[in-house]
Amino acid sequence: MEKVTVTSLHRMKAEGQMITMLTSYDYPMTRILDETGVDVILVGDSVGNVILGYSNTLPVTMEEMLHHTRAVSRGCTRALVVGDMPFMSYQTGLEEAKRNAGRFLKDAGAEAVKLEGGVNMAEVIKAIVDIDIPVMAHIGLTPQSVHRMGGYKVQGRDEKQRLQLKQDARAVQEAGAFSVVLECVPSSLAKEITSELAIPTIGIGAGIECDGQVLVLHDLLGLLGGFRPKFVKSYVHLPEIISKAVKQYLDEVRARTFPDEPHAFK
Ligand code: KIV
Repeated sequence: MEKVTVTSLHRMKAEGQMITMLTSYDYPMTRILDETGVDVILVGDSVGNVILGYSNTLPVTMEEMLHHTRAVSRGCTRALVVGDMPFMSYQTGLEEAKRNAGRFLKDAGAEAVKLEGGVNMAEVIKAIVDIDIPVMAHIGLTPQSVHRMGGYKVQGRDEKQRLQLKQDARAVQEAGAFSVVLECVPSSLAKEITSELAIPTIGIGAGIECDGQVLVLHDLLGLLGGFRPKFVKSYVHLPEIISKAVKQYLDEVRARTFPDEPHAFK
């Protein structure tokens, strides 16, 4: 299968082909995902919630992101690997933003970076794109802004927010972003933005009219208990399957039936 690049995504939008994107954080999962033919693998800062047990993405560090991005890059041959820039790795100045974006490509094998923000981050996006690092933007519900937003709320429900989000979408495109994630916005707004922009939109909680869709892998696999946003669809409930296998192992060890002959050396 042909390697996915940022230009493939533009071609897919032009041809009306849906773009598929999932998060991944480690080598074995990435190998499985890459073999399925998913187009984009995002090493999301959601690693903080789903792997590291933080209550939000704010504590995630550059070192943690690079560690997980390296593992993903080693497991991926076809999909485009995008590294998610963590909170405070790009908000504090253009030089720091460029240096940190560069580390994703130079030290961790990513092929692009993602960062959150619209008009307010246009200058940062432009500076990173100007040194030839492809940038995926992320607007709407931006989890790194959870405290300003007063929680994880749908964005763009009133006219003022709708206008702001349209301006954000135009600004990131003008700044040179190769695509934009739209998170938790009304479907009608996502549709308008998608038809206006030349770059592909990737939706999460943004309805069916985007150019592509993304989900957090652990949500898709039903691996996380607790609160589940409306837009999440779990295609399987892995905890039950994992528990069953582990309990069988425990039973066999306690009954002294494992390791049996085929699993032991003579
Ligand atoms: O960190 C992440 O997983 C993300 C996706 C939800 C787009 O940003």
